[in-house]
Amino acid sequence: MNFEEEVKRRRTFAIVSHPDAGKTTLTEKLLLFGGAIHVAGAVKSNKIKKTATSDFMEIERQRGISVSTSVMEFEYNGFKVNILDTPGHQDFAEDTYRTLTAVDSVIIVIDHAKGVEAQTRKLMEVCRMRKTPVIIFINKLDRPGNDPFDLLDEIESELHIKVCPLSWPISQGPTFKGVYNLFEKKLFLFSGDNKQTVADDIVEIADLNSPELDENIKPYTQKFLEEIEIVQEVYPDFDINTYLSGEVAPVFFGSALNNFGVKELLDCFVQIAPYPRPTVTDARTISPFEQKFSGFVFKIFANMDPNHRNRIAFLKICSGRFERNVPYFHVGKGKSLRFSSPNAFLADKKSIVEIAYPGDIIGLPDSGNFKIGDTLTEGEILNFKGIPNFSPELFRYIENADPLKYKQLAKGIEQLTDEGVAQLFVQKSNGRKIIGTVGALQFDVIQYRLEHEYGAKCKYEPITLHKACWIETSNKAQLDDFRIRKYNNLALDKQGREVFLADSPYSLQMAIEKFTDIKFHFTSEF
Ligand code: G4P
Repeated sequence: MNFEEEVKRRRTFAIVSHPDAGKTTLTEKLLLFGGAIHVAGAVKSNKIKKTATSDFMEIERQRGISVSTSVMEFEYNGFKVNILDTPGHQDFAEDTYRTLTAVDSVIIVIDHAKGVEAQTRKLMEVCRMRKTPVIIFINKLDRPGNDPFDLLDEIESELHIKVCPLSWPISQGPTFKGVYNLFEKKLFLFSGDNKQTVADDIVEIADLNSPELDENIKPYTQKFLEEIEIVQEVYPDFDINTYLSGEVAPVFFGSALNNFGVKELLDCFVQIAPYPRPTVTDARTISPFEQKFSGFVFKIFANMDPNHRNRIAFLKICSGRFERNVPYFHVGKGKSLRFSSPNAFLADKKSIVEIAYPGDIIGLPDSGNFKIGDTLTEGEILNFKGIPNFSPELFRYIENADPLKYKQLAKGIEQLTDEGVAQLFVQKSNGRKIIGTVGALQFDVIQYRLEHEYGAKCKYEPITLHKACWIETSNKAQLDDFRIRKYNNLALDKQGREVFLADSPYSLQMAIEKFTDIKFHFTSEF
């Protein structure tokens, strides 16, 4: 196979959902079809159990398991499928957002009884920012839920994306009969007993006028035929271009737990989902078909074991071939690095990779060289864009609790924030360090890891902040005025960018109204 074919057969994507919608279950079923695992239950994925919300050690233990499921790759019908897992726990949402920068498309799972939930909205926002193509899988049809038309309306209005159903359910809950696949024009009947293996007892009916249809879905035939007529009138025909540009989301219905609708989803997915897309850098846009290698780090995974302070940097290959033991240029550090044991990920085990192609994710063992967003090339100086920081939700001052360990603390904070565990802001007026996180758990994680990995002790002090906003303006006079008036609320982020720390929604609103030429952004990339 030549290089171009290798690129074109790759599908790198993430499955995302509000917790409990069925992301883990769907991932597992896809792996079953891909032959990456053989029995259901083999992958517990990155899921952090609800019972563990206040027990961060348990979460870290589960994070340990999750390193091998961070990336799951398998071959399917000649395609190389790379699934990037994302943490289910809301407190690790930023990890999820960053992972979304490394994928070429996304499958969103929605529970059809619950509809669009808070986390789904946020995740969709990130997809929209990056114009990521999205497929929606409506799950749990074996349970009673919303009317499919209402659900599609809700998705369109809440997620601000047009939909195009590619399958349609026949009844639901205890009377769920199956789905009609509008893409393949076939009817798949639900038997509800395919749970553990790859299903092979699906009845296919190609012609909707056939008496076989009525025999199988009675007494829902009439209702179903009417619905299909409406679907065909109301929704546009599937157009791959509107999907690829992120304007229209194809929708599938099914039941991941019952392994129903999953194969159809996968079959369609590999056909329509994009191969690696061009990547934007500060210098130019990189095509995946360029011969020279380039890639960027989107995630760093640290081992909690204090005796082995090793980390794995996850690199997405954007162009060219990555080869083991070949020196590559670390743009941020300005030096060459060679990797003797890069990892590929196969569901439940890691293996050394000799060669990898655009779209692939490799794990680079790291002793502290990498931070999120770092770029590797064959010498060209460029930095990948699009790994934004999002305004944290919670803030605390971090202080040294052991005067003898000042250096260790500084190093620990530096490295943990490089890893993306939390964000660091240094207040301009007094030099105090502020940690910003998406969830309260990260404060415990940082404290624990500082102590166990760096031998440092920290304590937190409260600070009342609403949001951190990255500011942008071309009006220098107004910026100078803003800097004087808001001096106590200004800080620098790790990249040295100026950030406005708004005390409250009100103070943010006042600033927006008063400084009309300044734009306040909730993400660091705009
Ligand atoms: P998540 O990763 O999105 O958080 O969700 P996960 O797959 O863990 O699914 C959440 C719960 O929903 C699980 O039940 C799972 O078995 C169930 N589920 C997933 N798909 C379907 C489906 O198609 N139909 C039905 N009826 N249930 C489904 P749980 O009891 O919370 O966990 P577990 O003990 O089964 O692991």
